[in-house]
Amino acid sequence: MSDAVVRPDPESEAELAFEGALRPSSLEEFVGQQKVRRQLQLLLEAASLQNRSPDHILLAGPPGLGKTTLAMIVAHEGARPLRMTSGPAIQHAGDLAAVLSSLVPGEVLFVDEIHRMARSAEEMLYLAMEDFRVDIMVGKGAGATSIPLELAPFTLVGATTRSGLLPNPLRDRFGFTAHLEFYEPEELLRVITRAAALLRFEIGQDALTEISGRSRGTPRIANRLLRRVRDFALVNGGPADRDAVQAALELYDVDDWGLDRLDRAVLTAIVDRFAGGPVGLSTLAVSVGEEAETIEAVVEPFLVRTGLLSRTPRGRVATPRAWQHLGRRPEPTALDDL
Ligand SMILES: Nc1ncnc2c1ncn2[C@@H]1O[C@H](COP(=O)(O)OP(=O)(O)OP(=O)(O)O)[C@@H](O)[C@H]1O
Ligand SMILES: [Mg+2]
Repeated sequence: MSDAVVRPDPESEAELAFEGALRPSSLEEFVGQQKVRRQLQLLLEAASLQNRSPDHILLAGPPGLGKTTLAMIVAHEGARPLRMTSGPAIQHAGDLAAVLSSLVPGEVLFVDEIHRMARSAEEMLYLAMEDFRVDIMVGKGAGATSIPLELAPFTLVGATTRSGLLPNPLRDRFGFTAHLEFYEPEELLRVITRAAALLRFEIGQDALTEISGRSRGTPRIANRLLRRVRDFALVNGGPADRDAVQAALELYDVDDWGLDRLDRAVLTAIVDRFAGGPVGLSTLAVSVGEEAETIEAVVEPFLVRTGLLSRTPRGRVATPRAWQHLGRRPEPTALDDL
């Protein structure tokens, strides 16, 4: 049940509409990530002064930190049309050629999960990014010829939760890479204060503070928890105060530190089954019944950032802090390894 809150089905229409309604549409409204915001601002302003399309931009970071939102802002700030697609939708070079050849001048092309694009398409993209040109192969075997096709100048905005999987030639062709960081509780407080106002939801200051401290440093989760607290207050008829937040989050298995069921399952597995680690990623994934990719891209970044897990060359290790958080005493051997 908790996974539906913290990792809801991205295709769920209600959740998408809800996210859309709360998405900031300008850099000004975008909370936090100050460095990235200033870097983007400069890049966009310079392009507009020179009357050209902004450089290609790569947005990297864990889910829910604002990559899609920033891509939309890049288009919106420059009053440019936006085309959205994703890596998994581009399974052949032809899929990409179709998109690229239909772009209008100055358009922003957003490719979500760009690390999952087909290899043949990646190679086509290199040339397109550099020279605004693609070579279309016509025919097969000895009679095959390639026909060059000029493209309208465009700005590629790529998003990835796994920048390490991008081949270097692709990574190098982005003029700017933004690494999004987890948000501080004060920043999340600003995100949900704004969201509560947009939703016309009356909620106490200390309730908002409590939510922002338990949202895994992630605006998407903060907004979703806000919504669950609103449900809770509505159904139970009480005020949306700190007690309501605590009761709602307990119901959805979000603990004091904002860890959800899967976060705790990972830590518990390392501690209980592997004596604190080190344990390899794939073994760990199997033992909690999840994809290794989910563990690596979704679960681990936050656990590492909170100092509960460390990645060592020999595998994942639960830190003494993790043992403490789970209410266990570290075994001496586990400590020796750190
Ligand atoms: N800096 C921010 N300020 C205010 N709201 C934000 C910010 N970043 C994200 N949000 C909110 O969080 C939600 C999720 O953000 P977004 O969809 O951009 O994340 P994402 O990085 O694209 O995630 P994914 O990797 O899952 O695609 C948005 O709907 C938006 O309301
Ligand atoms: Mg996104």
